[in-house]
Amino acid sequence: MSRSVSDKTGLSRLYHLNSEPWLNEQAGRPPPLVQQAKSYVDVPRVALPETDGGVLDKLAASRHSMRAFRDEPPGLDDFAALIRSGYAALGPDVLENGQRLLRRPVPSAGGLYPLEVYALVRNVTGLQRGIYHYDAVGDALEAIDTTPWEEQASDAFLSWPAIKNAPVILCLGATFARTQSKYGPRGYRYVLLEAGHVAQNLCLSAVELGLSSLCLGGYHDAQLNRLIGLDGEDEAIVYAIALGVAAGD
Ligand SMILES: Cc1cc2nc3c(=O)[nH]c(=O)nc-3n(C[C@H](O)[C@H](O)[C@H](O)COP(=O)(O)O)c2cc1C
Repeated sequence: MSRSVSDKTGLSRLYHLNSEPWLNEQAGRPPPLVQQAKSYVDVPRVALPETDGGVLDKLAASRHSMRAFRDEPPGLDDFAALIRSGYAALGPDVLENGQRLLRRPVPSAGGLYPLEVYALVRNVTGLQRGIYHYDAVGDALEAIDTTPWEEQASDAFLSWPAIKNAPVILCLGATFARTQSKYGPRGYRYVLLEAGHVAQNLCLSAVELGLSSLCLGGYHDAQLNRLIGLDGEDEAIVYAIALGVAAGD
């Protein structure tokens, strides 16, 4: 599929559609043993002081990727806490001119909030297995499909063996035009950055709730979008996060 480059957002759309997983020889390998980080030599250095570490430091330090989940359902209250930490609609704030604006727990370029949260639910207490959309303004889950989804998901996610027992996989859908109608091609970057903000909140909130997470960028776009009922152009999944109790716990 191709789009005209004269279209203000065409190049980013073209890029998006042409960045399916790169299945080269490195793709399935574990992370490299040598990890690189930059350090300047022959410049003054300031050693940082010891700090006590606040709540957030401790949550962040405890977060790590989990690739084996126990088939144990989180309760609907924990699930609600998780999803709200990522993208709840808060407020509204009333501006001086009387305008009422909703906020979210994450920053958003222009306050445009381009993301939508979908949940592939396998095993959450109080929820029927199925695919849900989080109506943030109504603070409710909308059951958009209650037919079995696992088989299609197993084809879509490259790391399916690691997440097959995860009780829930949250998928972040990007409605590019919400942000790109204001910011054009650069807005594409903003949308992806914002998905990272949401994912980090979800991961930290999971730690707080005694749950583990695996962030997922490796999936076949067309298959995952189709499963959730997105066209992949105007709205496409840009990130997914599997959540649940770690198998070893
Ligand atoms: C954007 C992004 C995409 C990722 N995609 C996958 C994935 O598809 N499958 C997987 O097993 N891990 C995936 N990961 C997890 C990384 O492998 C993991 O974060 C990294 O090895 C560091 O380990 P840690 O999360 O335990 O700190 C992804 C991480 C990020 C940030």
